[in-house]
Amino acid sequence: MRVGAIVAAAGSGERFGRPGGKQLAPLAGATVLEHTVRAVAASERVEGVVVVANLDHVDAIAGLLAGEPKVVSVVAGGATRQESVARALDALPPEVEVVVVHDGARPLVTPELLEAVLVELDESVDAVIVGYPCFDTVKSVGPDGLVVRTEDRGRLWLVQTPQAFWARALRAAFERAQCSGVTATDDAAVVEADGGRVRVVRGPRDNIKITVPEDLAIAEAVLQVRGLARGGGAR
Ligand code: CTP
Ligand code: MG
Repeated sequence: MRVGAIVAAAGSGERFGRPGGKQLAPLAGATVLEHTVRAVAASERVEGVVVVANLDHVDAIAGLLAGEPKVVSVVAGGATRQESVARALDALPPEVEVVVVHDGARPLVTPELLEAVLVELDESVDAVIVGYPCFDTVKSVGPDGLVVRTEDRGRLWLVQTPQAFWARALRAAFERAQCSGVTATDDAAVVEADGGRVRVVRGPRDNIKITVPEDLAIAEAVLQVRGLARGGGAR
């Protein structure tokens, strides 16, 4: 199967709250987005990567990633993540059979995690996504700050990216969502709304998304520990 990747990096990083946004924030000697794109491109299965960037950052990001041979294009995103991914889908070569979508703000992804998702994508499902069971108790809270109810944690999973899709299913779901007005915060939900079958595989807890500035310190620590585990810290 021919695999293309989309790295969604066109958000405005409002919760991060620093000028320049989180994709270009420094992390362990590079930017968040460079770590993400390098890890995705390091997967042997991924043939090409389309990066979707905020319109204001397209040129800067194209320059930053100029040395990455698998990056086929950097395109401008839209107002929502769904719109951004739709634009990236249009930029993927038509021969791509499998699309892996990954958040630009998840720099701790590994080629091994991409492989774990891709290996589970067979004809019995439309998509495979990564997540892990919810360890904390989850409560619904009203706008007044009062608890409405406590949810049944046993069935709840926290879902991340990467998410892998049969390209035909993803394209069809996105087209139908545009016609019907379906909106979703992850790409799997677009396929679910289209009646698709989505399998969840358990991923690592350290595949965090940079959302607020404190997350950078966690990401730095994870990268440092991984470096030590590979013997990179011994000098
Ligand atoms: N994203 C995107 N296009 C959008 C919105 C989000 O490509 N219009 C991307 C982000 O760049 C990010 C990923 O989707 O890599 C996950 O979104 P999120 O963490 O919510 O990032 P932001 O939307 O940038 O952050 P915030 O919600 O705090 O503004
Ligand atoms: Mg957002």
